[in-house]
Amino acid sequence: MILFNDFKKQYYFLRDEIDSAIKEVLESGWYILGSKVNKFEIEFADYLKSKYCVGVGNGFEAIQISLMALGIKRGDEVITTSHSAIATGLAIKAVGANPVFVDIDDYYHLDASKIKEKITKKTKAILPVHLYGQSVDIENIKKIAQKNNLYLIEDCAQAHGAEYNGKKLGTFGHAGCFSFYPTKNLAGFGDGGAIVTDNFELYEKSKMIRNYGQKNKYQHEICGLNSRLDELQAAILLVQLRHLEEYNEKRRQIAVQYFQLLRHIKQINLPKIRKRANHVYHLFVIEADKRDDLKVYLNKNNIPTMIHYPVPIHQQKCFSEFNKLNLPVLDKKISKILSLPVHPFLEQQDIIYICNKIGKFYED
Ligand SMILES: Cc1ncc(COP(=O)(O)O)c(C=O)c1O
Repeated sequence: MILFNDFKKQYYFLRDEIDSAIKEVLESGWYILGSKVNKFEIEFADYLKSKYCVGVGNGFEAIQISLMALGIKRGDEVITTSHSAIATGLAIKAVGANPVFVDIDDYYHLDASKIKEKITKKTKAILPVHLYGQSVDIENIKKIAQKNNLYLIEDCAQAHGAEYNGKKLGTFGHAGCFSFYPTKNLAGFGDGGAIVTDNFELYEKSKMIRNYGQKNKYQHEICGLNSRLDELQAAILLVQLRHLEEYNEKRRQIAVQYFQLLRHIKQINLPKIRKRANHVYHLFVIEADKRDDLKVYLNKNNIPTMIHYPVPIHQQKCFSEFNKLNLPVLDKKISKILSLPVHPFLEQQDIIYICNKIGKFYED
């Protein structure tokens, strides 16, 4: 059976390592903010070539805490994209700031060429999302941030290990925010997240915020949250991190096959690859004519697909003040996008079957 994500296979692939990591934590008698979280923070920062890492509760709070630690607050504006998981927009709202949504480019990312016109006196930060596993136009976005004295916070929830110009994503801005939700390229078996930064002050402040704003025990200097990565997830993530490059390579191989087997189908557009970007294919997203019919057809043939995302953030009920916003590129693309299965355990025969069925749909 083809699955969109295969969590069980992921576990069985590493069962001995995961079981012994879990056992070690259980037997240690220490479950929150201990040696495993410390070790993971050091190893993940090393892997990305970042100075510091702070393990937190999830990807949403990684963004929220970064914004809080940078002092972004009520009335401030944060330039971002509407084409993302709801968490990106909600995290901005959670600190009382206002998201300013910019339309997307050909790679489904915040369009760098449309940022300048949105900058006002209230703008404090730019929050791009490396959506689907590929870098945004980070070079230009960074230049705009620097020129306008804005913070740059990267949402890397879909881009663990992805690079731009040989440099890992998450290390370009003031903070890189990661999620370790089970579907992610680097996945926990539960919720988890992390912030990476080269800035010591931001690191220290984020560590305080994740633990009730406490610097030393029972001394709360700021109003923080409870957002702690737990020892069990950290132990699992340490195992998974050692396999991340291998998983990403497997995803790239699957993408190569999709490109080869689907390139002749006129009714679909394949993902565009940004120059100098090393894509990690968190998702493989095509644009398809008659998308909804194709989705139903594939489903009938036991091929699960998804839409990331069917409703943009600015059109959600909880963002009602933005519902009338006009983002024409996003509007055009959203009715065509379709995410095909891509995960490290997808078999070659499955990829061939999926591509054959897509071809068959357009032949009939
Ligand atoms: C782009 C993006 N940002 C943020 C998040 C939030 O991460 P989490 O689900 O760990 O809170 C996700 C994951 O759902 C995501 O895909």
